[in-house]
Amino acid sequence: MQVITDNEQLSVHTHQLKALGGNIAFVPTMGNLHAGHLALVRAAKNLATTVIVSIFVNPKQFAANEDLSAYPRTLEADMEHLHHLGADVVFTPSEHAIYPEGVETLTTVSVPGLTDVLCGASRPGHFDGVSTVVCKLLNVVSPDVAVFGEKDLQQLLLIQKMVRDLAMAIEIVGIPTVRADDGLALSSRNSYLTADERIIAPALYETLQQLSGAIKAGRRDYSALCDHAREQLNKQRFQVDYLEIRRCSDLMSADHNDTQLALFVAATLGSTRLIDNVQINLNPQAAQ
Ligand code: PAJ
Repeated sequence: MQVITDNEQLSVHTHQLKALGGNIAFVPTMGNLHAGHLALVRAAKNLATTVIVSIFVNPKQFAANEDLSAYPRTLEADMEHLHHLGADVVFTPSEHAIYPEGVETLTTVSVPGLTDVLCGASRPGHFDGVSTVVCKLLNVVSPDVAVFGEKDLQQLLLIQKMVRDLAMAIEIVGIPTVRADDGLALSSRNSYLTADERIIAPALYETLQQLSGAIKAGRRDYSALCDHAREQLNKQRFQVDYLEIRRCSDLMSADHNDTQLALFVAATLGSTRLIDNVQINLNPQAAQ
């Protein structure tokens, strides 16, 4: 496994690989790797001859009130996981390598519509930070395919739109959310939960599953269903930021005619903000 920190060196490496007829699957991460990230790497291995994983805690996607310095950094353990899984290259650029002139005057990639709602409404500027860094990483790595988790469905949808809108010749692949046995979606942030909070946390996914079950059984009173689910969570020490039923195509509020839906939730438990989502296909042909 090769570790590369320099943009130029990585570009040369990937162009050589391609000249030899290889193709590249890319997994961008911020490190602190868990089984969710590793599922992406495993999937990437089945998609191309070479797998490149980046580890870069992107300051541009953290707001001033979000503690960038507290983000868990576990480079040594991450390297061990990636080596074990057989990743070919780990790209660990410095902040200077990605933002040589700082972020103030940086050209920004902004994906309208999808980024103003849900997490975009609660975290202004966050998704511009994500699309900008992902665009830059894709340009440096020039992969054939890039792999993202459905855990961050809004992020996945906006990267797919960015690649479409900017005619980037890269396939974007989504991988289902990896969960703990009790249903809690794996996340670096789970380590911030106290033991008590960790016991309550799976209620987030349970609530989405109940909602999903009700919708599949024919309920269409979306607003009442969401109000009830929010109330249930707020009773259990969560502070719900949003819980909504949206259509997958453009993340607008779903109406009764939409068949591709996603239930989105973000809630704070203690001081930890957790997000989760469940997709629903109401198409009669879909295996439910
Ligand atoms: P990070 O939070 O490190 O996540 C990296 C990738 O792992 C993302 O595609 C995310 O959706 C996926 N992932 C995280 N938890 C998962 C889980 N439980 N199951 C499946 N996939 C999971 O997302 C980011 O970093 C950044 O925004 C990034 C795209 C790297 C840009 O900075």
